[in-house]
Order: sequence, then structure tokens, then C-alpha cells
Amino acid sequence: MHLKNDLILRTIKGEKTERTPVWLMRQAGRILPEYRAVRNSLSGFKELVETPELAAEVTIQPVDILGVDAAIIFSDILVIPEAMGLPYEMIEKKGPRFPSTIKSAADLKKIKVAGADDISYTLEAIKITKRELHGRVPIIGFAGAPWTIFAYMVEGSGSKTFSKARAMLYTDPNMAHQLLQMITDSTINYLKAQIAAGADLVQIFDSWAGILSPVQYEQFSLKYISQICDAITEVPKTVFAKDAYFARKLLSQINCNTVGLDWCMDIKESRQLLGENKTVQGNLDPCVLYADESRIQEAVKTMLNEFGPQRHIANLGHGVYPDTDPGKVRLFVDTVKEYSTKIR
Ligand code: CP3
Repeated sequence: MHLKNDLILRTIKGEKTERTPVWLMRQAGRILPEYRAVRNSLSGFKELVETPELAAEVTIQPVDILGVDAAIIFSDILVIPEAMGLPYEMIEKKGPRFPSTIKSAADLKKIKVAGADDISYTLEAIKITKRELHGRVPIIGFAGAPWTIFAYMVEGSGSKTFSKARAMLYTDPNMAHQLLQMITDSTINYLKAQIAAGADLVQIFDSWAGILSPVQYEQFSLKYISQICDAITEVPKTVFAKDAYFARKLLSQINCNTVGLDWCMDIKESRQLLGENKTVQGNLDPCVLYADESRIQEAVKTMLNEFGPQRHIANLGHGVYPDTDPGKVRLFVDTVKEYSTKIR
């Protein structure tokens, strides 16, 4: 279907655009009362993820309410481990938990490489979203980076240190590579199916990139992200490696179109390291949205001036925090739209 708003896709190609496109990581859900209303009518987060009509509804909400330039499909990165045979639970106010984890080579025998059929609910949600959006904005498909998924499958939950996951890189690197390869193959299957269902671009979230050493990052994370980027040739790819400031030079060399920056990464330095062929995304501190209106506008303008008018997709430097006032988010979006038009 013809896209009425393809600002993001044109920006990714490096074209001159009339303004800077904008969306927010974790825009679907959490901050909107309209999301909570849908969510509270169900048994929990997973039921929402697994009910395509409702997942599509909350995917479209931020497009209607916040005016963003893309819809990111409502799902979670943890659907991949579940599809591989390791189910997760989402504990209210605490986060994800895996009743069983990967501890030994024997555990690898109990899981498999996931195929697209194993996650049909999200694919169906993308199809419904595509139909209901009528080409208003592009749809972003996504997956976790293999290392970040590995971290949850081995650790079993969120963690300050992820010491079980990191320990395995020393105690049994071969097994770690086997598991990472299984996750990578599953992710390629899944992303290709999301694209076939209607995703116009895809983003890989490496939320735990920053807890590896630079050398480990190259061996245990980037290697697999790079495989994914090479395998996905149908649509543009964004890689967001949180806290991996040391990896920016390396990211310039992999086959992705866009690199996401967090707010601790210097914008000009990042541009230099990434070179002229990458589009950059980000990177306002999500905490800016707790400030008063004039400060928010000021911070957004400073950010837009530093990125410049081309090859920039405005976003936060990580997901929007759940207790952020949706009015402030709307102000962020509106300020990007208005001010970026002026600096062309
Ligand atoms: O961006 C979007 O709006 C699309 C949906 C989306 C969710 N999770 C929905 C969600 C996306 C892209 C994700 C990615 C995700 N999930 C990441 C990578 C991005 C990041 O934030 O670093 C990670 C690490 C996860 C794993 C996860 N899911 C955690 C740690 C938690 C609990 C804490 C939290 O962030 O809320 C979740 C739950 C989750 N995933 C919620 C939503 C809307 C909140 C649950 C609820 O509404 O009950």
C-alpha cells in the first residue's frame, strides 16, 4: 500500500525532507490511559500481546493521540525465547521472569530454532495494523538482539549485573555461541515474517549491549546482529545498542541503515564515528519529559540543532518512562515537527 507519510523511509535513504520524523521507543502502551483501559480489560500483558485485534489497537493509539510518524507493533522481545520453547511470565510491576532457564548443554536440547508459525499472533497483529492504518505511517517491526535475548534466557529475569549470562561467556563460550546462533536463526525467521506481514522497517534492540567489554561485544553480540542485518535485505534496519558507546565505529561497518543513540552518546562524535552513510536516531534523555514545557522545548531544539536537518530520526535515548505525562510527550512530538521545519 502507498504510504501517505514516508518521512522516516526518506530520511533513512539520506534524502532531504520537509522536516525531521519523530517517534518514541515504547510509545505503544504504558503512558496512555487509552492503553491501560484496554490492558485492564484483560488478564495481563501477555494476553494483550497474543490478541491480534487488541495489539493492533494499542499499536495505532500513539499515531492518533501523539501524532508520531511511525507505528511500532505492540509485542515484546521475549516472544522469541517463548517461541523457542522457553516461556516467560510478565510479573505486574516487576517485569519478566522465566520459570526455566538455559544452564547447560542439556538445556539446549529442549529448545529449538523458532519458525514464523510459532509467533503467528504478532504477525496477525501486523496485518490488522496495516489494514487499519490505511498507509498513514510506516509500521516498525522489531526483535531483541541475540545477546539481549540470551541474557534473559540464561539469567531468567532482569538483573543489575546479568552475572549468570556473562559468566557463561567465560565458562562455556562454545555453548554460548550455539545458543546465540539458535536465537539469531529464530530472529531472522521472525523478522522476515514480520516484513511479509507488512512491517516497513525493523529495529533490533540490544538493551544490554553496554554490559559487555568491547571485545566481547564484537564476538558475542555484533557478530550475530551483523548476520541478521545481512539476512534482512527487504527493508531498512535500525540497530539500537544501549550504552555501547565503544561500538559506534564497529556499527558503522555493519549492514544496517540507522543507528540509535542513547542520551549519553555525544551527537557530533557519534556522527563522525558512524560516517555519512548511516542515519542516526535519538537521543533525548527520557527524563527531560519530567521538566516544564519551556525546558522541554529548549532541550528538543538543542538536540535538533546538534543533529542537523538530515539523516536524523528524532526519538528518546531509551523507552519513554511509564509515568510520563502524555501531554509532555505530545509537546516533544510537536516541537520536533515545528522546529525542524524551521531549520531547513
Ligand atoms: O515500543 C513499543 O511501544 C512497542 C512495544 C514494546 C514492548 N517491549 C512492550 C512492553 C517493545 C519494543 C518492547 C521491547 C523490550 N521488551 C525491550 C527492549 C527495549 C528496552 O526497553 O530496552 C526489553 C528489554 C523488553 C523486556 C521487557 N518487557 C521488560 C524488561 C518489561 C518490564 C518492564 C517494562 O519495561 O515495563 C517488559 C514489559 C513490557 N513490554 C511492557 C510493555 C508495554 C509493560 C507491561 C505492561 O503494560 O503491563
